[in-house]
Amino acid sequence: MKSSGPGIGLRTREWRPADHGRLAVSEANPARVYNYLVGGKDNYLADYEQAQRFLGVAPEVRDTALSNRRFLHRAVRHLAANGISQFLDIGAGLPTTPNVHEIAQAVNPRARVVYADNDPIVASHGQARLSVSGTTMVKTDIRSPGDLLGHEELRRLLDPAQPVAILLNFVLDYIEDPENPVGIVRRLMDWAAPGSCLVLSHATGDFIAPDADRDWGVISFGDPVSLVAREHAEIMEFFAGLDLLAPGLVQLPSWRPGIGAESDPSRVWAYGGVARKP
Ligand SMILES: C[S@@+](CC[C@H](N)C(=O)[O-])C[C@H]1O[C@@H](n2cnc3c(N)ncnc32)[C@H](O)[C@@H]1O
Repeated sequence: MKSSGPGIGLRTREWRPADHGRLAVSEANPARVYNYLVGGKDNYLADYEQAQRFLGVAPEVRDTALSNRRFLHRAVRHLAANGISQFLDIGAGLPTTPNVHEIAQAVNPRARVVYADNDPIVASHGQARLSVSGTTMVKTDIRSPGDLLGHEELRRLLDPAQPVAILLNFVLDYIEDPENPVGIVRRLMDWAAPGSCLVLSHATGDFIAPDADRDWGVISFGDPVSLVAREHAEIMEFFAGLDLLAPGLVQLPSWRPGIGAESDPSRVWAYGGVARKP
């Protein structure tokens, strides 16, 4: 797999606590910037300012983020209605209403959800606010799937002998090709029982006009943790060996659209798809 396309030039820096040990709210944090974009409340002035710089260059980013949440909601609702009662949401992000467990448990009150994220801010918010009946939050890195799958909290809540929905929404975008994102997905799906499903959304440059005159440099965080935009064919590689549900890997608003308002597809720079393990 290679990373390509015009590319979304966002480069982020991993969040780290300030030396004095308090939360570094004076620095923008990628999870909090995203939280601001989707209308969450867990963000600070630095995140707002970073988001405004980002939106000044690419206002489509907000449409894309909101469309991603709506896709996630539709996919979870569909899977819960079709008998999936276990969900593993990796790169879950800060709590955002409605969260995955609220959607799944509205369909099946016995549904269980494990949230995972490698960001300490996300993990602490999640542990405080998402640890309700049938849910838990673990701090782990998707790049170490063995640690995640062996985590005692995951093993307490999820039965690997039963189908699980593995949710990878806007998280593989953080995994660069040398880190083998296809291998990570394969490892997760090898662990999951037959009948399990993969829900995946991913940023793409496929819909960014090649002549767009955008100064991506102004939204640089500095140090390298790239956000990788991938082409359709590259994202399809994540579904290898799985049965892709209709309508396939499509621009987010086109995945089983609901009755609510959707973003203009030309402003949504991401694909989404759902597949089932045979
Ligand atoms: C753009 S947010 C997506 C949130 C949510 N999945 C959604 O679709 O609305 C990306 C999240 O992935 C997390 N993340 C990034 N790299 C990760 C990694 N290597 N392992 C686990 N989580 C990661 C970030 O901390 C952030 O919370």
